[in-house]
Amino acid sequence: MQAKTVFFDLDGTLTRSGEGIMNSARWAAEQMGCRQAPEDWSVFIGPPLHDSFRKYCGMNDADAVEAVRLFRVRYDEAGWSENEVYTGIPKLLRTLRQSGIQLAIVTSKAEKFTLRIAERFGLSPYMSGIIGPDLSEKHPDKAHLIRRAMEQFPGPYVMVGDRIFDIEGAKACGIASIGVLYGYGTLEEFESAGAVAASPDELLTLLAGEGCQAPGLFLSMEGVDGCGKSTQTAALTEEMRRLGWHIVMTREPGGDEIAEKIRHLILDPANTEMRDVTEAYLYAASRAQNARALIMPTLKNGDLVICDRYVDSSIAYQGGGRELGVDKIRQLNAWATENCMPDLTVYLRMEPHQALARRLNASEPDRLEREKDSFFERTFEAYEALYAGPDGGRVVTVDASAPIGAVTEEMLRKVRMRLAELAAGV
Ligand code: TYD
Repeated sequence: MQAKTVFFDLDGTLTRSGEGIMNSARWAAEQMGCRQAPEDWSVFIGPPLHDSFRKYCGMNDADAVEAVRLFRVRYDEAGWSENEVYTGIPKLLRTLRQSGIQLAIVTSKAEKFTLRIAERFGLSPYMSGIIGPDLSEKHPDKAHLIRRAMEQFPGPYVMVGDRIFDIEGAKACGIASIGVLYGYGTLEEFESAGAVAASPDELLTLLAGEGCQAPGLFLSMEGVDGCGKSTQTAALTEEMRRLGWHIVMTREPGGDEIAEKIRHLILDPANTEMRDVTEAYLYAASRAQNARALIMPTLKNGDLVICDRYVDSSIAYQGGGRELGVDKIRQLNAWATENCMPDLTVYLRMEPHQALARRLNASEPDRLEREKDSFFERTFEAYEALYAGPDGGRVVTVDASAPIGAVTEEMLRKVRMRLAELAAGV
């Protein structure tokens, strides 16, 4: 479908926002002492709230105005964040932007909430505009909003939405529309839509054509043993899922079946005779396999790779810890990975003595974890030196010595900021 600008509805099209909307509508109706209630509160998702309170709760005009006000109180506090981006949306938005198509959100949701959600859930960097009613507009009508959007951006346009209001609004403005079936609408609502899409991937094909895809995103996690990497990797993965990424998780040493076999070889406590150089090659071998079998194909498909340790670990542990030399390890790994490096690396920074205290409380150590303190000190120093140089540009450093919750908070805040910068550069 030919478009210079694509308008997206928000709720049910970009975000699965139902929970926050339903909770807030139910709460507002309860506060009003309302006796009439819809069987399913999902009818509130999408259409103008004022109309819904009248239609489903039997309110008169004045009560509906008050209910909308109350809705916004609850929504302001909690409802707006009871939300997540549909899987595949970041890939869609990145690809459209890369194809030179302008994007805007056109929604009957109050503009200040749309702005907050778009910011929190990483949608803003892709958008050239956000068009919504201001709080004084009591009866926001989709056609009116679309018309306003059309004044700001070049055509041809396509309106994408999950409800009949989006499709009829587009029709009233004489522009094309696509109905999405993964949102809150039903197939019957899309009779007059130009096309329907069952998933963000189908939407991508409709809007950008077959085979058109922006490269995905590559995140890695780094830090010395005991820095809390597993817990924080899980938290980051959950956050990225909420932001709509399709995720392939991997760890090094390891990855696919072959790379996992190499992992066992490296970490087996019985292999006390393994030479340092052998170890360095095995890590690089595992990585060569993982990069080709998992990482590169995932990125090519426009998806997200989260890798628990990558090249930087070899630079720090083998280059620094084993004193094999940073440059040699770098060269070896450049070949192993064809220079495929992360877009963003989270460095969980922890001084070696703190990491040691944590490790002493942990489970049975593997071969690497049995190393002497001086090994971990050199490893730590090598990380520090690496990130003080040009590689620091892709790194988000987080103080991992703080309590777990605080580390997660700092990490997610910094990662979101960096993702926004990366998205703006697409
Ligand atoms: P990992 O499985 O991440 O251990 P943990 O979850 O306990 O942090 O890593 C296993 C060990 O392998 C760890 O001690 C770090 C080491 N390692 C290297 O020495 N070089 C490398 O290139 C990689 C990826 C890991």
